[in-house]
Amino acid sequence: MGPGQRRERRHWQRIRAGPLPAWFQRDHPRARRAETPPRGGKIRLLVIDAIKASWTDEETDKKVLNAVTGVQLTMLINNVRGAGAARGAWAPIMQRSAGELDALINLNAAFMTQMTRVLIPVLAQRQRAAIVNISSAAELVPAPYLVAYSAAKAYVSRCSVSLDAELRVESQGHIDVHSLIVGAVATPNASHD
Ligand SMILES: NC(=O)c1ccc[n+]([C@@H]2O[C@H](COP(=O)([O-])OP(=O)(O)OC[C@H]3O[C@@H](n4cnc5c(N)ncnc54)[C@H](OP(=O)(O)O)[C@@H]3O)[C@@H](O)[C@H]2O)c1
Repeated sequence: MGPGQRRERRHWQRIRAGPLPAWFQRDHPRARRAETPPRGGKIRLLVIDAIKASWTDEETDKKVLNAVTGVQLTMLINNVRGAGAARGAWAPIMQRSAGELDALINLNAAFMTQMTRVLIPVLAQRQRAAIVNISSAAELVPAPYLVAYSAAKAYVSRCSVSLDAELRVESQGHIDVHSLIVGAVATPNASHD
């Protein structure tokens, strides 16, 4: 095993933050796949509901930091999303309840912001690190019936640009921030939207 392989094994420590999915049962094929990272790496699962998570006390911060204790964290990928929350993805904004709009904003914008805030000091311990925020082409075009989702994705991109500039100073350029604007992709949950 060469030095490159050793590095890959060390870094394959994926911290997954999300609600407990239906497939999270050890006998489910997807769970078995998730538990088998390449070349003997390890996976830690941290379960947080991005809609309901409270960040006002320090409990959630502590959970996240505990989950990465001892991990040489080099990359944070903010991928969590949801376009529809309680109902189908497509609905006029005036038909959405206040709670539904809160949920959309928490899921698509607030959660990635808070995770980023908590994990920047951990990433800053590495010589080089990156934050990758997953946005959507919905931010680039008028997206009727997806108003809160598309606006939240625009937030993700603008947040990434400003944070990248900020971290050039605050992290001495060690942490790069990118946003990835994704078009339509057939993923399991996308078919519900
Ligand atoms: N698919 C597309 O056509 C498309 C287009 C443009 C942009 N994107 C972006 O690409 C990224 C991935 O999309 P995807 O299609 O793969 O979506 P997805 O299958 O719905 O996956 C999104 C992730 O968010 C997690 N999640 C959902 N609700 C959550 C909650 N309340 N708390 C914590 N985690 C929660 C999901 O967890 P579980 O695995 O437990 O369900 C899943 O890991 C998203 O940021 C999305 O906006 C996708």
